[in-house]
Amino acid sequence: MHEKDFIPAEIEVMTDRGSASWRAPSNIALVKYWGKYEGQIPANPSLSFTLSASHTTTTTHFRKQSGTASFPTFDLLFEGKVKADFNPKVRSFFERIIPYSPWLKDFHLEINTENSFPHSSGIASSASSMAALSLCVLEMERLLYPSMTDDVFLRKASFLARLGSGSACRSVEGPLVSWGQHEKISAGSDLFGTVYRGSVHEVFRDYRDTILLVHKGQKTVSSTAGHSLMKDHHYAKQRFSQAHSNLSLLLDVLENGDLEGFARIVESEALSLHAMMMTSIPYYLLMKPNTLAIIEKIWEFRKETEESLCFTLDAGANVHLLYPANREDKVLQFIKNELVAYCQKGQYICDQSGQGAKKLESAV
Ligand code: DP6
Repeated sequence: MHEKDFIPAEIEVMTDRGSASWRAPSNIALVKYWGKYEGQIPANPSLSFTLSASHTTTTTHFRKQSGTASFPTFDLLFEGKVKADFNPKVRSFFERIIPYSPWLKDFHLEINTENSFPHSSGIASSASSMAALSLCVLEMERLLYPSMTDDVFLRKASFLARLGSGSACRSVEGPLVSWGQHEKISAGSDLFGTVYRGSVHEVFRDYRDTILLVHKGQKTVSSTAGHSLMKDHHYAKQRFSQAHSNLSLLLDVLENGDLEGFARIVESEALSLHAMMMTSIPYYLLMKPNTLAIIEKIWEFRKETEESLCFTLDAGANVHLLYPANREDKVLQFIKNELVAYCQKGQYICDQSGQGAKKLESAV
């Protein structure tokens, strides 16, 4: 598919108002997207577990503006309050998506959004929030284009979400979503996320992700700034090729259920991402001492008990502890005994892989 395929034809049914409410989850990448080209095109393919407990709920009311407008107007409430610092991100999202949903410019949007996870927990909310907003936009678009199929709806929602934040395109469906072209994923696209349809061992069903909140403050460097550091990065070429081969290896592991192999690839991806940040110019340390303490504890525990657990990191200090559903009791005990002490205010979030975004009926 090409970008032009997302430009709609003439409006089918003129409608001057509508409402939509969607809940979209966060996701955690196993193979990381780090580096992008113009137009939110990823420099390498990535694959993530869609989460379920960590999500954003967005309700949007659309109303046609009087006269002719060149841009949509909007009011945004975050957790019931005006949040002006979010406006530039939403505005630039609309700027990027207008060519693909031009009807938007004639509308005023009232956006109400909230997260299930604590505010400034250090969990990136851009994936879930951009996915939820894109789904609301598509819901309105479906009123104008009633012939739209469910497939087109989901694909375009992911396509628009990508323009808001790259990883958001992997937050529309679940439980495993890839984004970016890869030789072993025939349906893979640089333009939107696709559900991974290859065979997946049952050990990966409802895989657990306990997010250990090490540092709840603002990130040292935004993801967008981090991606741009890959442009002239000394190791960029090798990193992109490593991601391709790690994804190949991961697909085999997902099929045969080799949890040791899983840990090796996933941890290597997390550390490679951080290594890129440590070796860029300027360079950054995104881990905190407690991030390292937790990693050491995980390795020690794994060695002693042979439990199948591993960690991954996003571009911050929090640790995602990944493990099979049937190991939950044992691992939660380990977290309480040994890891909670390293979490800020003892906080962690119990999450697991999920099926993707959900339409809510409460928008009226
Ligand atoms: C480390 O999707 O937040 O989480 O496209 O600039 O919005 P933008 O970046 P973003 O980058 C996410 C990077 C990551 C890895 C991943 O999710 O694949």
